[in-house]
Amino acid sequence: MTTGTTHERAARLVFPNGFVWGAATAAYQIEGAATADGRGMSIWDTFAHTPGKVAGGDNGDIATDHYHRFRADVALMAELGLEAYRFSVSWPRVRPGGRGPVNEAGLDHYERLVDELLSHDITPVLTLYHWDLPQELEDGGGWAARDTASWFAEYAAVVAARLGDRIPLWTTLNEPWCSAFLGYSSGVHAPGRTDGGLALRAAHHLLLAHGLGTEVLRSALPATARISITLNLCAVTPGSAGEGAQDAVRRIDGLANRLFLDPLLRGHYPADVRQDTAALTDWGFLRPGDERTIAAPIDLLGINYYSPTVVDAGSEPEPEPSAWPGSEHVRFLSKPGPATAMGWTIDAGGLLAVLRRVHREYPSLPLMITENGAAFDDTPSPEGGIADPDRIAYLRDHLAVAHEAIESGVDLRGYFVWSLLDNFEWAYGYSKRFGIVHVDYPSQRRSPKDSARWYREVISTNGIDP
Ligand code: NOJ
Repeated sequence: MTTGTTHERAARLVFPNGFVWGAATAAYQIEGAATADGRGMSIWDTFAHTPGKVAGGDNGDIATDHYHRFRADVALMAELGLEAYRFSVSWPRVRPGGRGPVNEAGLDHYERLVDELLSHDITPVLTLYHWDLPQELEDGGGWAARDTASWFAEYAAVVAARLGDRIPLWTTLNEPWCSAFLGYSSGVHAPGRTDGGLALRAAHHLLLAHGLGTEVLRSALPATARISITLNLCAVTPGSAGEGAQDAVRRIDGLANRLFLDPLLRGHYPADVRQDTAALTDWGFLRPGDERTIAAPIDLLGINYYSPTVVDAGSEPEPEPSAWPGSEHVRFLSKPGPATAMGWTIDAGGLLAVLRRVHREYPSLPLMITENGAAFDDTPSPEGGIADPDRIAYLRDHLAVAHEAIESGVDLRGYFVWSLLDNFEWAYGYSKRFGIVHVDYPSQRRSPKDSARWYREVISTNGIDP
């Protein structure tokens, strides 16, 4: 669709028929009920209960109490007109020790949630792993241990056996970069380890888990079910002209993007990343056949996008521990311009660049924006309403480029706003609010923000104003 002349009102940007509109959440961030019905401990329980790890000493013990309030939350989703809901299953609810006995009560919960969604005509989109590894598996080495990948595949089989007939779209892992590099290198996420070599090992075992899990899902699920993985791909640009900046872009693109895209979609790890990280690990964890396993065909790629990345050559090493092992002489620059409450620069152009790049390199792969959104310091008015024009502007601008991407041929199938509810924002605790629905934590009252009403209009008209 093109915009009109200056005399006409510009036309609405209308999305293709069948474009899926949804919202996303993750188990540890919203469920609470940390000890209910036989749930085991996850690495995030341990981490959040370790003093100094999470802002305000917050933890997910109660969160938004969604575990108990899911029926009201699904009713709210229906009121907002959501067509799909992306949520994650908590591995330690389903298999408390990560392996060993299955906890049927945990599966019952997800079955009830899925049935509630279906009865409201909301399509469930299920993520198997959104960062809450069972603590017992961490005690055995966590993602640095190869066995964890096999336990993940078993867990996938357990969930598929119970819910396989009702979930049309499955995601194995959410943002494995974060699990590996924030969890095992910078240590700002659970389990809080700080060893770059270990992070690369963890990344490999996460990818292996994806591959083994995909094989299991493929054989357990109906032929119509689609299988995906969600990556947080970076739109990396150089902060200056010259070779140093170009090399910084190559390194960060390598660690953030190609380390995942290449084995998943080309069947081998990028040689330059192996070289950049050779001082940290001999890559002995990579066994014959692993790359073939990781490259098991997927039906769709989920992309999470929030903010662009600008890098340059640095004269001083980045302070240790870094999330970017092997890239010690890269400097991260903040792009000038408005930012969200996270301090993340707002630039929808990065989303367009990521979508176009993936489509150019993998033209036959359908894409989905599985997360996009923004934290702002929302203040409820005395009447209870929450005006969040900055969030609306953010979402609108990103949807405009999603539309532009589709117009230019990108096979983009849907969009999930992050997040349905304000929730536990990992190391930032409850201090950052990403929801289109405000949560008053003491009372657990939900109040749709203006952005939620705006989004309902987007969904019902399948488009946005230009
Ligand atoms: C990506 C993660 O998947 C999600 O859990 C997190 O809350 C958002 N980014 C915002 O940081």
